[in-house]
Amino acid sequence: MSEKPSNLPVNSDRLWGTILETATFGATPKGGVRRLTLSQEDRKVRDWFKAACEAAGCTVTVDALGNMFALRPGRDPSRAPIGLGSHLDTQPTGGKFDGILGTLAALEVVRTLNDAGIETEAPLCVANWTNEEGSRFAPAMMGSAAFVGDFTVENILGRKDAEGVTVKEALEAIGYVGAAPVGSQPFEAFVELHIEQGPILEAESKTIGVVEHGQGIVWYDGHITGFESHAGSTPMPLRRDALATFSQIVLAVEAIARKHGPDAVGTVGEVTIANPSRNVIPGEVNFTCEFRSPHAEILKSLETDFAAAVAEIAAGRKGVTVEIEQVWRKDPTHFDPKVIGAIREAAEGLGYSNRPMVSGAGHDAFNLATRMPVAMIFVPCKDGLSHNELEDATQADCTAGANVLLHTVLSLAGVANAA
Ligand code: GLV
Ligand code: MN
Ligand code: MN
Repeated sequence: MSEKPSNLPVNSDRLWGTILETATFGATPKGGVRRLTLSQEDRKVRDWFKAACEAAGCTVTVDALGNMFALRPGRDPSRAPIGLGSHLDTQPTGGKFDGILGTLAALEVVRTLNDAGIETEAPLCVANWTNEEGSRFAPAMMGSAAFVGDFTVENILGRKDAEGVTVKEALEAIGYVGAAPVGSQPFEAFVELHIEQGPILEAESKTIGVVEHGQGIVWYDGHITGFESHAGSTPMPLRRDALATFSQIVLAVEAIARKHGPDAVGTVGEVTIANPSRNVIPGEVNFTCEFRSPHAEILKSLETDFAAAVAEIAAGRKGVTVEIEQVWRKDPTHFDPKVIGAIREAAEGLGYSNRPMVSGAGHDAFNLATRMPVAMIFVPCKDGLSHNELEDATQADCTAGANVLLHTVLSLAGVANAA
C-alpha cells in the first residue's frame, strides 16, 4: 500500500467513470437521465450495481421493497455496519448526480479500501434505497421510510403510479422483490453524500457542506370538482370552472410561501384536467402541492394557512368543491453531532473548505435519522441546479465528497489493519 489510511484518496477517474457509465441507463438527449423508480432502466442500473458490489467482494441482499444492501465484512462482526449510500432512481428530467453520486461514491469507498488492503473494525454496508424521488410513486424516500417503520410494507406495496401500476407489481416486473424483511438490515450509523442541489457552496467557493439539519416537508393531493359545460354558450356567472379555481390555489400557495419566507417554499408540481378540450369548461382537476421549511413552527403555519386559503377559495366558488388530502408529512430533521463532527474533521483533515448547511431537498438520510446516528456531506453543483437534465458537478468536487465520505466512514468504523 502506497498511502497511509490518514490521507488515502479514492480513485477519482474510476469514480467519474462509473458516473458516466451508469448515466447511459436512461440517458436523455439533453445529457440528463430519466430513470424512474422500478422501471426497466432502474432494473438495468440495479443489475449493474449488484454486479459491481459483488465484484468488490460484498454480499448483496435485497429487501421486500427492493432496497439493496452490499455488505463488506469488518474485523468485529459483533458491530453493526456503518452505512453509506443514497439512491439510483431519478426524476423524469433528472441529472447524472442526484443520489447517484452518493451511491457510486459509496461503492468507490469499498473499492478504494480493497485496493489499499484496509480492513475496518465495523463492517460497512452500501445502500441503494428504493424510490427516493417520489415522482412515480408517492411518498418520496419510500424505501427508507418503510425501513424505519413510518409506513407498513403493505401500505407501500399498494401505492399506485399514474397508470395504476402498484409498487408490488413494479417490483415483480423488474425482479427486485427481495427476501430480506424490510428494516432487518442493522446499521450503527449512516452517512449520505449528495450534491447540494442549491447555490450556496458554489457562491461561497466552498467544497464541502457539512449538513446538520434538513427541511420539513408536507405533500398534498388535491381534487377539484366543477362541472363541464359549453365554452361558448355558458355565461360567466353560471360557470363551475375547476381550472379557474385551481389557478387561485396556485397563487395562494405562492403567496403563503412568500409570506413565511425566506425559510419557506411552496410548489404546485403536477396538474391534470380530466378530459380536456379547448371548448369545454374544465369540470375536474387533480393536482399535487408541497410546502417545506427548516423550522417546525413555520411548517405548521404553512399547513394552517393553506387549509384556510383552500376553504376561502372554495367558499367563493359556487358549485365547485375542493378536496385536499395530506399524503405525507416529515418534520425538520436534526442530524447527529458525532457524525456531523466526523464529517467536519474529515473535511478539515483533507484540507477542504467547508461550512455547515441545511438541506433544502429531502433525502433518505432524514428517514434514517429517526433510528440511528446520521449526517450528510454536500458538494457543489453547477448554478445550484438539480431535478433538471442540465444538473452538473465537477469531477474534482465529486472526488472531494467521496474522499470525505471515505474518511468519515474510516473514523466511524475504525481501521483494524492496513496491508
Ligand atoms: C427529493 O428529491 C425531494 O427533495 O423532493
Ligand atoms: Mn437525491
Ligand atoms: Mn432528487
